[in-house]
Amino acid sequence: MKPHYMITTPIYYVNGAPHVGHAYTSIAADVLARFKRLDGYDVFFLTGTDEHGQKVEQAAQDKGQSAQNFATMVSAQFRNMADQLNVSYDDFIRTTEERHIKSCQALWQKIADAGHIYLGAYEGWYSLRDECYYGEDELTTTQEGKKIAPTGAEVKWLKEPSYFFKLSAWQDKLLEFYEQNPKFIGPESRRNELLSFIKSGLRDLSVSRTSFKWGIPVPGDDDHVMYVWFDALTNYISALGYPNIKSSDLWRFWPADLHLVGKEISRFHALYWPAFLMAAGLEVPKRIYSHGWWTVEGEKMSKSVGNVIEPLKLVQEFGLDPVRFFLLREVPFGGDGDYSRQSLINRMNNELANDLGNLAQRTLSQVMRNCEGKLPEIGQRHQDDETLLSKAILLPTLLREQMDRQALHESLETIWKIIRASNAYIDHQAPWTLKKTDPQRMTVVLRVLVDTLRIIATCLQPFIPGAMDKLLTQLGVSESERQLSDLETVIPAGRELPAPSGIFPRFVEAE
Ligand code: ME8
Ligand code: MG
Repeated sequence: MKPHYMITTPIYYVNGAPHVGHAYTSIAADVLARFKRLDGYDVFFLTGTDEHGQKVEQAAQDKGQSAQNFATMVSAQFRNMADQLNVSYDDFIRTTEERHIKSCQALWQKIADAGHIYLGAYEGWYSLRDECYYGEDELTTTQEGKKIAPTGAEVKWLKEPSYFFKLSAWQDKLLEFYEQNPKFIGPESRRNELLSFIKSGLRDLSVSRTSFKWGIPVPGDDDHVMYVWFDALTNYISALGYPNIKSSDLWRFWPADLHLVGKEISRFHALYWPAFLMAAGLEVPKRIYSHGWWTVEGEKMSKSVGNVIEPLKLVQEFGLDPVRFFLLREVPFGGDGDYSRQSLINRMNNELANDLGNLAQRTLSQVMRNCEGKLPEIGQRHQDDETLLSKAILLPTLLREQMDRQALHESLETIWKIIRASNAYIDHQAPWTLKKTDPQRMTVVLRVLVDTLRIIATCLQPFIPGAMDKLLTQLGVSESERQLSDLETVIPAGRELPAPSGIFPRFVEAE
């Protein structure tokens, strides 16, 4: 039986259109999902939209629409983005779907029945933008006397009746859990941050609201709707059919292997979510990884600055694979990054067109011209040949370890080392000269290059699936030979290769 792997993106708020930050998380999750499939796993990759809450209600009002219609329209934009980016999700969940609403209410009931929810009143400094309360000590005061949260959002004093989740009671359990699961949080730096937050003392969490209506009603008390984070986090199990855990064949994917999120929401995923799950007697996800934030040409992306990067426009201009590649290559995953048009063009031209594109083109055109367009015999290999191939064949092992740490940039660098070594090899061996001096040796060299390219292209599929599909076809690798495990099988000589054609166009800026 295949091993399982469940991976998720955050479900995105439908209060605004998708931008490059959302695209980033979805593409990174897609790479990880595709890598696991490539490695023989049975994968469940979940994404979707978060549609309740005051922010959405307000955004709809501003547009003169009902919250439901507005949410449906924006949700469709997010789904379209995922499709256009070739994000291979297995399910797209919307929190306004009946299956999700039922599931949330069941989870609430389960936690309430276990005695972890009580009715109280909440008052405190509330940020509408962040949808949470802040402690006095977390705030700063502006010259005009406004109170500001650490995120920069304004807070207002609010009092409302509210149901509370007894988060304080889970402090020790959470610490113990962190202790026993050192890999629960990535990157490591975020783990320390969260640990000290827990140690500083957890307050009970307000999990319902009476101040607006656009949300899931609390079971047995229609005056309250659920706090949007209780609602949103539950998507990860409602998509698997919770509470029908005996009859749903998707439940086997729980606990999730990885929740991939942006750094600003790690607290919700790493503290509240495990506590809710423990209170309901359910298993806790295996890992939460939070990546960094993108700025644009050095500035924070914002509608008012007018520098929001729309992913589909990027794709239109540069093509999908260059965009996917740039986003994951440019910044160490986990750190913050800056989008600049010039660095995208540089990556595209230097690394895709020059390093990889030329290597493939040079190799395949010589095979076409000098080997009758057929895959050459392996022949008698020299030490140089073995050196290159033995490094290349290590890629799957190295990548597996890196991908399990979400070190996507390290994987790309590891692959690019082999690409650079292959370019050095072809220059040094000079098969175009061997053609006259030692044609037999030439065929050996070309075969080494084809075999190395096959390993490279197989491993790069999760990152740039479209271009690698083309390259593998040109290398004579059929669609049923593209798993990592297929690299253990030699492709027989004599296989006819199709005529090579460029896979990575250079980008030339219009005059
Ligand atoms: O927080 N750089 O939704 P959201 C990198 N609905 N990533 C970015 C980014 C940026 N500048 N901007 C957004 C929510 N992201 C909740 C989540 S999950 C149960 C509920 C990405 O629409 C990043 O993944 O605000 C971030 O965590 C997510 O979009 C926030 O999306
Ligand atoms: Mg947000």
